[in-house]
Amino acid sequence: MNNFLNLKDINYNDLRKIIKDSKKRKIKRKNLHTLDLDKDMPLKGKLLIQMFEKSSLRTRLSFYLAMRQLGGGVHNLRKDELHLGQGGESIKDTAKIISIHGDIFMLRTDSEVKILEFKNNLDIPLINGLSPNSHPAQVLSDIFTIEEIKKKKISNLKICWIGDCNNVLNSLIEASIKFSFKLNIASPKKYCHTKIFNLINSNKKLIKFFTDPKQAIFNADVVMTDKFVSLNDKVNQKKKKKDFKGFQVNKELIKNAKKDFIFLHCLPANRGEEVTSEIIDGKNSVVWHQAENRFHVQKSILLYCLKKLR
Ligand code: CP
Ligand code: NVA
Repeated sequence: MNNFLNLKDINYNDLRKIIKDSKKRKIKRKNLHTLDLDKDMPLKGKLLIQMFEKSSLRTRLSFYLAMRQLGGGVHNLRKDELHLGQGGESIKDTAKIISIHGDIFMLRTDSEVKILEFKNNLDIPLINGLSPNSHPAQVLSDIFTIEEIKKKKISNLKICWIGDCNNVLNSLIEASIKFSFKLNIASPKKYCHTKIFNLINSNKKLIKFFTDPKQAIFNADVVMTDKFVSLNDKVNQKKKKKDFKGFQVNKELIKNAKKDFIFLHCLPANRGEEVTSEIIDGKNSVVWHQAENRFHVQKSILLYCLKKLR
């Protein structure tokens, strides 16, 4: 079995295999209805158990759809309904029970320690559905979207991130190193932690850090951003948003990107903060397509976890 926790832990060939499989499955699904099953039903009889300790719309729906189309079933656990959530049962014992009843466990949490503890105690694969440092399923799916729309390998494109140094950026940095693509980051320095700077410094040829978004976005093929304040980001929100004021993706800033740039945002978005509606609803935005691709790519992630990738 394979876990899917951080892009840095998965080898490049496996990541490429996942993308290739997603492409094949997506093409084959043309004209099928949402709940029609993929003909081969590779996960028939298998159960995905998912638990969200934080809000989710896309990840919840796309993993559900992915598993159902592969022929399997899904059960959602709510933290506040579990003994674990009330402090009445250990992670070790909870993991044992989840392993008896399910075939894959997907967890969205605000604790890296919890990810590690579940990993150490589960007998079934674990998928990270977003943690403080990582959003690997999102970023792998975004690579799929970028290559699909640009019809080029991501290593031949210039990617630019404007905004917070958060979990999505962390996974994007790991992806830049794995897939060898150029990544320019623009963010106020004080919001980027040492771990990110260390990664940037040891991959200087690929990754560059800017405090001026205009310089970072210059000639970019792909422009990405995310909320200034993430879920459970325990900062002074008012102050943080003020510090990020110059980092909004808007009509003026985007003039510095390539003419045929594409705009991605993992969503949910705070329109008017990190991005204007004009950009998110504009002709270069691919955000809805990006959201749809989540379930196509996650099908292949589920197959990878159960060692069923062709
Ligand atoms: N992009 C993303 O993961 O969205 P949700 O928080 O709605 O799952
Ligand atoms: N960085 C965001 C991503 C949401 C999908 C958060 O953690 O809230």
